[in-house]
Amino acid sequence: MALKEEVLKYLSDNSSEYISGEELAHSLGKSRTAVWKAIKSLQADGYRIDAVTNRGYMLDADNDILNAQEIKKSLSFDCRVEYYKTLDSTNNVAKRIIAEGEDDVLLVVGEEQTAGRGRQGKSFYSPVGTGIYMSLVVHPMIELQNAVTATTAAAVAVCRAIESLTDKKPMIKWVNDVYLDGKKICGILTEAVTDFETQTVSSIIIGIGINLTTKYFPRDVQNASCLDADVKRAELIVAVANELNRIVNSGYGEFMEYYRAHSLVVGEDIVFIKNGVSTSARAVGIDDFGGLEVELADGTHYTLRSGEITVRKIN
Ligand code: BTN
Repeated sequence: MALKEEVLKYLSDNSSEYISGEELAHSLGKSRTAVWKAIKSLQADGYRIDAVTNRGYMLDADNDILNAQEIKKSLSFDCRVEYYKTLDSTNNVAKRIIAEGEDDVLLVVGEEQTAGRGRQGKSFYSPVGTGIYMSLVVHPMIELQNAVTATTAAAVAVCRAIESLTDKKPMIKWVNDVYLDGKKICGILTEAVTDFETQTVSSIIIGIGINLTTKYFPRDVQNASCLDADVKRAELIVAVANELNRIVNSGYGEFMEYYRAHSLVVGEDIVFIKNGVSTSARAVGIDDFGGLEVELADGTHYTLRSGEITVRKIN
């Protein structure tokens, strides 16, 4: 373990008291100068460490730091974790790592995205430090049609994670936007890497963006808000990844009831666009594959498999 990590561990194991430089140096078998440099470097990384003359150092309990090793340790499954202070898009980075030959489970997290991507070519506003920007890559070797279910699963994983850590009651707008009090707080972009030879999906990149404390959005981002809960980013990332991994490995079977119970859409009047034509309908159900069952004005039923809808009461 590098000295920086040892210092961090020592301070977090004794997080409610000041530890003198002398004690740190003695316990870690290093010089006081080396310890001081490690503290400075941790502070430069964003760790809030109080330094008080004649008392020593104390790690601030409010630290909301993303650290690849800490995240990896807290995950319930084995996974390569990559952390970036800044990156274009966690999905893009995940794709590059896959292209280099990575074929194990991978989690990419970023402090900010300079080119965060949303569905249908839109961008995803990803300012530094106020949101969660993560991509989990799994390798299910399933047919493309079933890969679509991963996107539904991701919305469930996000809602379950939020419910397990906060008292908020998130809802899902078909297909996989997570809403709180009528405003979008999370978007999900799922991308598949297919294997021509086996005709299967070799990797699914599940990109998740959650507005945690983001208060101000650019003008073109409509109807967005943030979770605004007392939760650390790393905690939420770990909870989402653990939940998603559990669903993926349990065969995608058990979450549809939860999805239906958290649907913001069923029973509502909606508008969908198919082949460039806008159609009004009433959403009447979600089928077992995540398709949205709608009833048209003439009473006929139709199942939407992809696309965007607007819900009259929230859009
Ligand atoms: C949407 O709302 O249309 C989907 C937004 C998805 C945003 C996440 S943030 C992490 C991952 N990286 C990206 O570039 N996009 C996804």
